[in-house]
Amino acid sequence: ATLPRDIVSAIQTLKREMNAVILAHYYQDPDIQDIADYIGDSLGLSRQAADTNAEVIVFAGVHFMAETAKILNPNKLVLLPDLAAGCSLADSCPPAAFAQFKAEHPDHWVVSYINCSAEIKAMSDIICTSSNAVKIVNQIPIDQPIIFAPDRNLGRYVMEQTGREMRLWQGSCIVHETFSEKQIVRLQMEHPDAEVIAHPECEPSVLRHANYIGSTTALLKYALQSQSSTFIVVTEPGIIHQMQKDAPHKRFIPAPAMNQCACNECPHMRLNTLEKLYWAMKTRSPEITLPVAIQTAALRPIQRMLAMS
Ligand code: 13P
Ligand code: SF4
Repeated sequence: ATLPRDIVSAIQTLKREMNAVILAHYYQDPDIQDIADYIGDSLGLSRQAADTNAEVIVFAGVHFMAETAKILNPNKLVLLPDLAAGCSLADSCPPAAFAQFKAEHPDHWVVSYINCSAEIKAMSDIICTSSNAVKIVNQIPIDQPIIFAPDRNLGRYVMEQTGREMRLWQGSCIVHETFSEKQIVRLQMEHPDAEVIAHPECEPSVLRHANYIGSTTALLKYALQSQSSTFIVVTEPGIIHQMQKDAPHKRFIPAPAMNQCACNECPHMRLNTLEKLYWAMKTRSPEITLPVAIQTAALRPIQRMLAMS
């Protein structure tokens, strides 16, 4: 089989024929973002997946995001262009080890960041994303002990913002841990008028220098409404595509990785390509499938999040 010459219009034709919707995260390649029906952060994408009337969901993101869409739509076909598009943060929380951790703290509520496997979601009381974590934790009764998993950096940030103690699972994201205080301070000296905008998955030494901290959608909104004209963007640089489209006269400087051996692009997100997306639609595979028991158990904490955020 050969690729069509005009891959963009071929994808659009398939989309109509299949009654499909293409959902893309901000960390996807620009050409994928440009063809998507909806681009968003993890919360926005979950909402879109919960509300869509389409028969097929093509998820341009990573595995846990497509899994969440499948949990919300057990009877729909959910396609992920490359099944190997995982997440280092989700991988840092293996289900067996987490089950033991949970058993050691039996009276705790489990608040899990959406960047985790369906197995972890199935063991959770409520899910959160980077845009609603503080809001969700603030709604939990004050005397209720909490386990927060898997991201220790977001967990620490939520503890600071809410004044709540939480037991943190010690997971992290390889992309956000590649940013360093030294590089941010160097960029600030080069661009003294720039505002630093950062994702809460970054380490505290980096977040300390941020003028604004938020999810990808929150960073985009902040950059658009701020009076500043230059921003140092401390998250995966895929987000800069929309920032630059929405504010062409502003300058967005991607924070570099801490050394030349590392990269600030998410190697998992970037496994998806427009070509793979086309083949996924054409062949209706690879599709996300889940054991029914996990799917059912994971639905409740996701629905709770959607109701509480
Ligand atoms: P948000 O989509 O909530 O901004 O999270 C970013 C991220 O790391 C997704 O993997
Ligand atoms: Fe996972 Fe980090 Fe990539 Fe997001 S950026 S998908 S948290 S590895």
